[in-house]
Amino acid sequence: MNLEQFTKALPKAELHLHLAGSVKADTFLKLARKNGVALPEFDKIEDLYRYDNLVDFLQIYDLVARSVVDADDFHLITYEALAHVANAGGRYVEFFFSPQVHQDAGISYQTMFGGLLKAMDDAETDFGLMSRLIPAINRELTIERSFEFLDLVLPFRSDKVIGIGLDYDEEPFPPAPFKPVYDKAKKAGMRLTAHAGEGGPAANVRDALDLLSVERIDHGYRVMEDPELVARCIAEDIAFTVCPSSTVILTHWRDLTTADHPIRTMLDAGLKLVVDTDDPPMLQTDLAKEYRLLGETMSLDRRTLADLALNSLDAAWLDDSTKRDWRASWSAEIDGLLTASEDPAYSN
Ligand code: HPA
Ligand code: ZN
Repeated sequence: MNLEQFTKALPKAELHLHLAGSVKADTFLKLARKNGVALPEFDKIEDLYRYDNLVDFLQIYDLVARSVVDADDFHLITYEALAHVANAGGRYVEFFFSPQVHQDAGISYQTMFGGLLKAMDDAETDFGLMSRLIPAINRELTIERSFEFLDLVLPFRSDKVIGIGLDYDEEPFPPAPFKPVYDKAKKAGMRLTAHAGEGGPAANVRDALDLLSVERIDHGYRVMEDPELVARCIAEDIAFTVCPSSTVILTHWRDLTTADHPIRTMLDAGLKLVVDTDDPPMLQTDLAKEYRLLGETMSLDRRTLADLALNSLDAAWLDDSTKRDWRASWSAEIDGLLTASEDPAYSN
């Protein structure tokens, strides 16, 4: 069994995926044409999915989001995104979606959630993939807008709409001002996460934990600038959802093979990491590929990759008894995969 087969077969959860970042290029083109959204010049549609920093990326991300208009469009992109995770061997997904960009285009929350939730049900029925939704606040907008976001999102809170996130450009927009918004979401029973330490400093990771009360950190790379905070995150078992291809394309940590790449140093420090995709088609990747990439560039053995996959279950917002049951069955499957990997008949 080669590494590609192994990483695909590995039971694993995806916990950091943005819906608008998960639209295939040809679906983007089809929806943009259908809904009259003007696109920049391109030779091949895939050329639009090229950028070399987060700010440029977010412009295309918004354009993709603007191409999604009616409930059928939301259904289509959600169903395709979930099918993509299932094809990479994902067994469970918690994914972000950015309602404010659609709201700015005049789309009602009923339309967005209607298409989305139906697609989540259909994915579970059609290919057995369970998923949960995390509406995320665009931190570049005002605090007033994020309170309005909460008022619109909270009525949809359910066993499927389980928490909130915070994304877009972190460097000029730190987490601290969002404390009252997160306090209100927590009181309403929402689970909490935030992008922090991706473009902003380690202090943003600390503020996300202390002020926003997040349960996990999305990206978090710059935590490594603060050894005391690293020690605390280890002691408190804080999970970091790291996205290898995203670092290569959207940050200045371009080389996964270097000893000072933060995913390498976070792993070596003993932080709890979960491997995720961020925006699979927009970053030309899938969940199995992210595991393979880490395995290859950081010379991780298969046991280590399997332990990372088990971290994804540990850090998931599933109830404890489901996690216990899944841990038992995933561990048994993993033992089988590791044994098959050792068998020379399956080698390579
Ligand atoms: N960071 C912030 N916002 C995002 C990202 C990201 O990596 N991907 C999609 N929106
Ligand atoms: Zn992200």
